[in-house]
Amino acid sequence: MKRFLLALATMAVLTGCKNEKQETTAASEKSGEVNVYTHRHYAADQELFKQFEEKTGIKVNVINANADELIQKMKIEGEHSPADVLITVDAGRLTRAKDQELLQTIDSEILDNTIASHLKDPDNQWFGLTKRARIVAYAPERVDSTQLSTYEDLATEKWEDRILIRSSENIYNQSLLASIIAHSGEAAAKEWAEGMVESMARAPKGNDRDQVKAVVAGEGDIAIVNTYYIGNLLNSENPEEVKAGESVKIFFPNQEGRGTHINVSGAGVARNAPNKENAIKFIEFLVSKEAQEVFANSNYEYPVNEEVEPAQLLQSWGEFKEDRLNLSELGEHNKEAVLIFDEAGWK
Ligand SMILES: [Fe+2]
Repeated sequence: MKRFLLALATMAVLTGCKNEKQETTAASEKSGEVNVYTHRHYAADQELFKQFEEKTGIKVNVINANADELIQKMKIEGEHSPADVLITVDAGRLTRAKDQELLQTIDSEILDNTIASHLKDPDNQWFGLTKRARIVAYAPERVDSTQLSTYEDLATEKWEDRILIRSSENIYNQSLLASIIAHSGEAAAKEWAEGMVESMARAPKGNDRDQVKAVVAGEGDIAIVNTYYIGNLLNSENPEEVKAGESVKIFFPNQEGRGTHINVSGAGVARNAPNKENAIKFIEFLVSKEAQEVFANSNYEYPVNEEVEPAQLLQSWGEFKEDRLNLSELGEHNKEAVLIFDEAGWK
């Protein structure tokens, strides 16, 4: 009898445990939330967040601000930060968040298997979600494409007063220069920056789109821009922008050598994430085939998931060789890049 009671008690404990476990699993699957601090403000992102909510029952709370503000906010909030996921553009910024100890190392087989190693942090603190290339957009009536070759060549006399590129305050240019530092060293990087200043058709102003518009207006012959801006111009509701997009041709630099400079927008799990498991699930969802299809067809960025084809427009530009430098190096060389720009007089 004693034995039977003991067995019953054990069973009760076991079933109790089982029920409790089932309940916890059910609870995390059907409820819970994930707090996302994001710099991206695309309709497609909203659509994806909704899909994630429907699929998992995990509510996505979004805080939108620019990347530096979000990083600052996380720093001030410290241990009590509600942030679970940080999403931002440019590996330089993601590395900045990592260096400020705002992210944590994530162990996820899905992320490991989906994202190529150069597109994520070596310590798995951030992961690329979408790729963009920094390319040449040129006026075909004034530039013979056989004259184009490398970023380095753009800094030579041949292009004096012909190139349009935005300010050095912009992280895209800082990361491009950081890639040159990583590949060729500081001296070569400085020489490049100085040469580029000579090649500029005007003092830097405006964003990437404005550089393309300036080419069309005849202010210069070449603009250096991220790929998705061309896609956005071509698909703009403003006919002037469509015309600007149609007036330039695309060239991928450094195809014979290291490949074209690329960058990512990416995500990391916050160091003090209150909903860490949900945060991992969320990032895993964003690199899934279904989510990457949405990214690929919304902002003209290249998917990081190789099972997904880029948008038709990007496919029409053909495949290109990308620089496989680990993107964390862009963050590591950011400070030197800013200094070199300053020394070179790149405004
Ligand atoms: Fe951008």
